[in-house]
Amino acid sequence: MSEPRTLAPPERRVAVVSGGERLGAYHLVTAHDASGPRDPRPGQFYMLAGDECWGGGGDERPYLPRAFSYARAHVEPAGVSLAFLLEVVGPGTEQLARLAPDDGLALVGPLGIGFRPPPDGAHPVLVGGGIGAAPLLCLQEELDEATVLLGFRSAGHAQAAALFSGEPKVVTDDGSVGRQALVTELLASELDADAALAIYACGPPAMLEAVRALCAERGVPAQLALESGMACGFGACFGCVVRTTDGYVRLCLDGPVLDADRLETAQVAGAGHS
Ligand SMILES: Cc1cc2nc3c(=O)[nH]c(=O)nc-3n(C[C@H](O)[C@H](O)[C@H](O)COP(=O)(O)OP(=O)(O)OC[C@H]3O[C@@H](n4cnc5c(N)ncnc54)[C@H](O)[C@@H]3O)c2cc1C
Ligand code: FES
Repeated sequence: MSEPRTLAPPERRVAVVSGGERLGAYHLVTAHDASGPRDPRPGQFYMLAGDECWGGGGDERPYLPRAFSYARAHVEPAGVSLAFLLEVVGPGTEQLARLAPDDGLALVGPLGIGFRPPPDGAHPVLVGGGIGAAPLLCLQEELDEATVLLGFRSAGHAQAAALFSGEPKVVTDDGSVGRQALVTELLASELDADAALAIYACGPPAMLEAVRALCAERGVPAQLALESGMACGFGACFGCVVRTTDGYVRLCLDGPVLDADRLETAQVAGAGHS
């Protein structure tokens, strides 16, 4: 099967921000990419930076672009409209969340390898934890039919569930939306049903490790979208290596989506301060 990888032009280009919307605890930033590929694959990512206001001089962070899965890509007459779902956790995400229409969004991408189609006859189950819901949005759009399971910290975070079509099953840590439960509890119930499934998951390391272990126990194929600190995004810095059963791989080139059975653990260390 060919790799779900659309190659990025070897350059940084500037997209034009078309919208910035607060969605509960998250931000949805959309931008018009006039000259980039129109067919990124779900699970691929872009390195993003503000065209202006990025690193203000002195030791003002952020210095480097930041990695983001695209959440949606819609082809337009002259280019493609890309949407990114962001959680503000530091200076880079703060700057990106402040972008306004007509601002420039510098980007490189699409990068990495995305999700592979499910094996014949297997029903896809999408499992998202928090901001890990982002790459599952475009994946849901591409699949004919999928079960969507989402776990969030609170009602503010759970507003992102409204971006999915159909009726995703939602649980929260505080019980403010759906049951008070972990999304892996929903997954365990799905796995109990006697059906051929293919699991697609993105979320925090502990959640991905729980998904990996559950699927390994039951012999169900799973693809995990992992995160690690990415300084370049295209294979040059080796900052993103993760250990697999066949040696270390650069997550930006060989991932970010990996088959769960290539991992002994899905607990990947976080990023530094770039
Ligand atoms: C392939 C990929 C796809 C991603 N997709 C999204 C997305 O769709 N939406 C979104 O909001 N975020 C996404 N992220 C995470 C995003 O890149 C980080 O939140 C961002 O780089 C943080 O930058 P900052 O300057 O705001 O915060 P920083 O100050 O750089 O980081 C804040 C905290 O987050 C930790 N951190 C930063 N980056 C990572 C990382 N990659 N993995 C683990 N911990 C990290 C840092 O160690 C620090 O504790 C993705 C990351 C990767 C690698
Ligand atoms: S981020 Fe530089 S090699 Fe992967």
